[in-house]
Amino acid sequence: MKLALTYNVKKETPAEASQSAAAANAIKYINSDLVKNYPERIDDTYAEWDSTETIDAVRYALESNGHKIILIEADENAYFNLTNTKPEFVFNVAEGFYGASRESQIPSILEMLNIPFTGSDSVTTGICHDKSRCKEILSYYGIPNSKFFITDSILETDKGFKYPKFTKPLHEGSSKGIYNSSVANNFKELNDEIERITSCYGQPAIIEDYVPGKEFTVAMLGNGRDVKVLPIVEINLDLVPAEFNPIYSYEVKWFFDTRENQLDIFKCPAEVDDKIYKQIEKICVDTFNALRIRDWARIDVRLDENNVPNIIEINPLPGILPDPKDNSCYPKAARHAGMDYNAVINAVLNEAVKRYKS
Ligand SMILES: Nc1ncnc2c1ncn2[C@@H]1O[C@H](COP(=O)(O)OP(=O)(O)O)[C@@H](O)[C@H]1O
Ligand SMILES: [Mg+2]
Repeated sequence: MKLALTYNVKKETPAEASQSAAAANAIKYINSDLVKNYPERIDDTYAEWDSTETIDAVRYALESNGHKIILIEADENAYFNLTNTKPEFVFNVAEGFYGASRESQIPSILEMLNIPFTGSDSVTTGICHDKSRCKEILSYYGIPNSKFFITDSILETDKGFKYPKFTKPLHEGSSKGIYNSSVANNFKELNDEIERITSCYGQPAIIEDYVPGKEFTVAMLGNGRDVKVLPIVEINLDLVPAEFNPIYSYEVKWFFDTRENQLDIFKCPAEVDDKIYKQIEKICVDTFNALRIRDWARIDVRLDENNVPNIIEINPLPGILPDPKDNSCYPKAARHAGMDYNAVINAVLNEAVKRYKS
């Protein structure tokens, strides 16, 4: 097949970064007074984007299955590059850059051009990228998730809140904006976090009840009620240094657990009793269908104080770092199901192709 791979790639140097108008604007933003109190913001601007190594690995996986690949960066020229090259099908891993709907932009263009593609449509990617809209749908279907509210400014009064509260940006991923301080134990800490999120990320904060129990992440492959739940990955947060909260924060994801110094933080399959394992599988299948996700996704789950699995968030474009040393959870779960990197990438494509035929 003549396939295009749509992607966003991390810029390695400031010179490379400034070649993209979006990236140049971001650099202006991170150098501005608005964020000068938050130097960590500089490190996470491109956290959601893929490395050249990942893009090459996906391309190689598809080529090794006999496809001809056109690379299309999801930038200002993407529309013209798609109309000029006319791919038969698109493998989409583009995260986008601007706006709450940035993950929906390539899906929307592809829908407009009537080009079939892997993964969820523009509506589902948009909803999943707004953590409040996503939770509203889960709640409608009775799928457990923590209570929440959103705000775009600090709060005037403590309305008798139950602490701890967990504060995060309304529409980010890759642990952007999620630091040890995200767990607030009192009103002052809560307002400090709201101030940090709103001024640093230029978007509302979502404030959730803290879900205290074990954490899992669940790779899904397929469609409808037949979607496969790959072996569940448990995140062993007991290994996080004691002075840090047991959450999968930016510090843990990108600083403590590095290629050079791997934290043995993942257990796959998860070591929980059968009943909880099955409950997690069920809640993930229900979530996949409630949000009308297509082909693949990775769903984060935590147990609440009663050991009931709660959905934390849904990633319709899961991270797929190819090197097992990078501890990327979707490929990790696939390996435990007997699929190597090339096999799982092609399995996602096959699910999408099958879906268009049915
Ligand atoms: N309500 C919550 N209670 C407890 N921990 C949470 C809650 N929400 C998020 N977390 C922690 O923060 C991490 C990142 O949050 P998540 O919503 O998954 O953001 P991202 O989209 O950046 O992955 C989770 O993996 C979990 O460890
Ligand atoms: Mg997550």
